[in-house]
Amino acid sequence: MINKSKFIVFEGIDGAGKTTQINLLAAALSKHNIACSVTAEPTTLPSGKLLRQALAGEIPTTAMEMAEMFARDRVNHNVDKEQGIEKQLSDGITVISDRYYYSSLAYQGAELGFDAVSALNLENPDIRTPDLCVFLDLTPEKSLERIGARVDVPREIYENYEYLEKTRKMFFDVFERLKQRGEKIVIIDASGSVDDIAARIFDAVIQIF
Ligand code: TYD
Repeated sequence: MINKSKFIVFEGIDGAGKTTQINLLAAALSKHNIACSVTAEPTTLPSGKLLRQALAGEIPTTAMEMAEMFARDRVNHNVDKEQGIEKQLSDGITVISDRYYYSSLAYQGAELGFDAVSALNLENPDIRTPDLCVFLDLTPEKSLERIGARVDVPREIYENYEYLEKTRKMFFDVFERLKQRGEKIVIIDASGSVDDIAARIFDAVIQIF
């Protein structure tokens, strides 16, 4: 197998099970001798910490400011000299990111429109295009059921039914547009068993290597 490092992104509305599936994929790829590293947005860098505060409603921000903060954090995510996406890929390590610009295009795009968010992301040369985006698809009903089950997690400002429904539609709209630009995106029904979902994800991902 040709083991060239890849950049893979997971997306999904809140509660879709991204964390579980990302970890299972990383373990499965490692078994196939594909070294990988798991990362996430918002990042753990200062720009990501600021975003966490904004998401928790601790700092008042406009939609445009949020979009700009996410784009800034994403650039740092790409170029950070120690842990950045570019660095990992050049070391031969496949990177799996929990969320990326698809989230900005969906969440911030819902308020600002596609073009404004696209300008901050798709036209930024420091923001790399992923080799594959895996979207874990879940209805808002299922999503809220799962979020509700995680009682220890503080509710963030985006977690309500209408927002989830609108965001899911925005994601599909974003995917249509990005597919036209040649992006590779797979949509996985995330309502089944963990193992079954993991197997379907692995089958889709292994094809890009
Ligand atoms: P997080 O707690 O990481 O949620 P999850 O585990 O579901 O990924 O919170 C990230 C939140 O930030 C999530 O509600 C989506 C939102 N977000 C945006 O609005 N735009 C973005 O560009 C990104 C990366 C995330």
